Amino acid sequence: MVTATRPENKVKIGPTQLLINNKWVESASGKRFETINPSTGEVICDVAEADAADVDKAVIAARNAFNQGDWPKLSATQRGQLLYKLADLIEANIEELARLETLDNGKPYQDSLNADLQLVIACYRYYAGWADKIQGKTIPINGPYFCYTRHEPVGVVGQIIPWNFPLLMQAWKLAPALAAGNTVVMKTAEQTPLSALRLGELILEAGFPPGVVNLLSGYGPTAGQAIARHHDIDKVAFTGSTEVGHLIMEAAAQTNLKRVTLELGGKSPNIVFADANLEQAIEGAHFGLFFNQGQCCCAGSRLFVEEKCYDEFVAKSVERAKQRIVGDPFDDNTAQGSQVDRTQFDKVMEYIESGQREGAKLLCGGGRVGDRGYFIEPTVFAEVKDNMKIAQEEIFGPVMSIIKFKDMDEVIQRTNDTVYGLAAAVWTQDISKGHAIANALRAGTVWVNCYDVFDAAAPFGGFKQSGMGRELGEYGLQQYTEIKTVTVKL
Ligand code: NAI
Ligand code: MG
Repeated sequence: MVTATRPENKVKIGPTQLLINNKWVESASGKRFETINPSTGEVICDVAEADAADVDKAVIAARNAFNQGDWPKLSATQRGQLLYKLADLIEANIEELARLETLDNGKPYQDSLNADLQLVIACYRYYAGWADKIQGKTIPINGPYFCYTRHEPVGVVGQIIPWNFPLLMQAWKLAPALAAGNTVVMKTAEQTPLSALRLGELILEAGFPPGVVNLLSGYGPTAGQAIARHHDIDKVAFTGSTEVGHLIMEAAAQTNLKRVTLELGGKSPNIVFADANLEQAIEGAHFGLFFNQGQCCCAGSRLFVEEKCYDEFVAKSVERAKQRIVGDPFDDNTAQGSQVDRTQFDKVMEYIESGQREGAKLLCGGGRVGDRGYFIEPTVFAEVKDNMKIAQEEIFGPVMSIIKFKDMDEVIQRTNDTVYGLAAAVWTQDISKGHAIANALRAGTVWVNCYDVFDAAAPFGGFKQSGMGRELGEYGLQQYTEIKTVTVKL
């Protein structure tokens, strides 16, 4: 691990109020809360704090916008044009948005710019293209009837997003919802409210009608629960912890049976066979775990390595982790910035302690970097056993756990033995083995000889307790439409 230096950086902060009905407003309670720069621990600014009363206001605006006014009058092509315009505005402000993302989240500026923002723009453009291609079917039913389906918007959609990829999670949720003609009440994560608000300005500039997109900063148990429980929200889309996923579904079940889609946690296996190109597998496993400070729902956090190449793989992975540059996220050499906040930092440090307590072998890292902000050394454990906490629970930090396996049948059985099923990867030069593993793993995404390859066109989501429904691609769009069957007597 190498520590990078920290140059000065000036970042323009955007709006800090709530966006309701195309107006920037204070919260009903007048309350505000602070957001911090996790790489220094210092307060950046405070933002208006939404609660149930603000959610009510936003839902009324979204309902009105759905029922009347300009939005339902727009043609599908015009909806697509608004999304293209938004994508162009994001592109025109890309560096400013990337700086704001890094300031509020702690991730390297180079990642914000070259990963997050590129995917954000691609996502809005992808769904802009879909807007006028959402089509039903004509169905040859029995009798003198003409039967067809319409794919209509679900209505008012509540969206609750996390802090690990703030602008990207906003794009994954907003773009398909708007392409399909819904209106939105979105609550951003309390750790990272700023970039979404700046995007709100661009939404206004693009010309979306009032009430179509409402953006609320606020906390989960208050504003988040108010969305999940709201009787006039037709669907809720959530990304975050599995624990809160249960609460969202419960709230929907207890109120109006709103549609629920969930993107939750994971403990994704990354399987390396001895016949893999080891250099590529080592680099891929490093990236698949440490990218975004390990704060990825699909992080390859159970790294299964075949016995025959285990020692070599471990030694080289440790060398690679030691080379990782940790430090100021605004330094272009930095590969790893700060964890998002104190809570996440403490959680990760507790897992590192638990790994040591349970007898895993700590080969590098394990400590804090520096004395301010929430930086953690790239950490590698070997001799990790399936029943250890670090092999079972989501750590969400830069902690690699390397586990040994003997053969294919055994590794399939062991990797599937989890409540999660978000993603998985396999490294092998044997094409049959690659496909066999891809078929056998109970996970929503399987990467073969690669990791974290994302594309707006490729669906993403979980089996089992990693969630329900899919985001991205055509499957992601379907989650934002209701099917109406129309039967006409001829
Ligand atoms: P969280 O699930 O509490 O937060 C995610 C979002 O849900 C935030 O906007 C939050 O305000 C909201 N929320 C929290 N409680 C809620 C409630 N009762 N009703 C409605 N909304 C609620 O996750 P948190 O606390 O930020 O992180 C805890 C762990 O969750 C992480 O350590 C990580 O393991 C996992 N996580 C997974 C993510 C993913 O991408 N799947 C993203 C963020 C966290
Ligand atoms: Mg922050």
